[in-house]
Amino acid sequence: MTILPLTPQADLAVEVRELTKRFGHFTAVDHVSFSIPRGEIFGLLGPNGAGKTTTMRMLCGILRPTSGSASILGMDVTTHPEEVKQRIGYMSQKFALYDDLTVTENLSFYASIYSVPRVILKDRVDSLVVMSGLQGREKQRTASLSGAWRQRLALACAIVHEPAMLFLDEPTAGVDPISRREFWALIYEMAGRGVTVLATTHYMDEAEYCNTIGMMYNARLIALNDPDTLKESISGTLLEVECDDPARAEELLRSKPGITSVNQHGLILHVFCADSSMKMDIQSLLDVKGIQVSRVEQVIPSLEDAFVTMVHEESIGG
Ligand SMILES: Nc1ncnc2c1ncn2[C@@H]1O[C@H](COP(=O)(O)OP(=O)(O)O)[C@@H](O)[C@H]1O
Ligand SMILES: [Mg+2]
Repeated sequence: MTILPLTPQADLAVEVRELTKRFGHFTAVDHVSFSIPRGEIFGLLGPNGAGKTTTMRMLCGILRPTSGSASILGMDVTTHPEEVKQRIGYMSQKFALYDDLTVTENLSFYASIYSVPRVILKDRVDSLVVMSGLQGREKQRTASLSGAWRQRLALACAIVHEPAMLFLDEPTAGVDPISRREFWALIYEMAGRGVTVLATTHYMDEAEYCNTIGMMYNARLIALNDPDTLKESISGTLLEVECDDPARAEELLRSKPGITSVNQHGLILHVFCADSSMKMDIQSLLDVKGIQVSRVEQVIPSLEDAFVTMVHEESIGG
């Protein structure tokens, strides 16, 4: 894990050190440390309840850390939460858009909250409408927008004051794959202009868009690296097994020596094992048990595989 310097560094937008949040006796975020260089996209991944939102709320100056520290754009979140809130953009999981306002009215409303000067307000709203592709929908009531358009409007509202740092909490939850890709194109464009982005997601394909990924599990950061290195770091061989009874095959393979983990992806099983010589063993074991195997093939692990493996290693005390 990165050792952070004591003084804030100008080229780092985010510096998090041993950040911890307890609710009573429950620890939601446990000694999390990472940093994000300016202009990078950082993805915080992990299952529900891992502690992603709690981490983000502390970084946004909304929730006071129990211990540890974090600075955003050089400002300490514990001592200067109000300054942090003014300088960042935050699209929360339940970002409040006003349904009875139109697209431009929502943008103007957020512009006034963030004290965008009146003289530039119209230009700002116009350019955000263009950026988010909402032209032609300016006068549409927000209630009548589809999920994907609402996300785009929420993003535009969150950046109405042109923040240098943007926090997105599951920004594309429930949005179709094509709209998700388009949304990420917007994020990319912003990062290209020097905006630093921290996004949480549980869509593993989205994690591929990030420069760095932090994987959270049970309140802790269990991995921190770029997507390719994360995928390469998992040891062993991944075999994809297709058969006519994946549920029973999973059970049988789980108890077989030499196999570290078995996960079902729809009708396909992902089997981690010591080496590719296990191919024949798997085939014959399933044959003997009367399971029809149509394919056993070595494949390159995806981020999802990397994540599942790391969680597995964590939970068995690896
Ligand atoms: N205000 C709170 N009081 C008590 N527990 C909380 C509070 N906020 C979050 N938690 C708990 O902390 C854990 C992490 O939650 P959260 O950060 O929302 O996870 P994630 O965003 O990764 O799904 C969960 O078990 C959640 O129930
Ligand atoms: Mg969350």
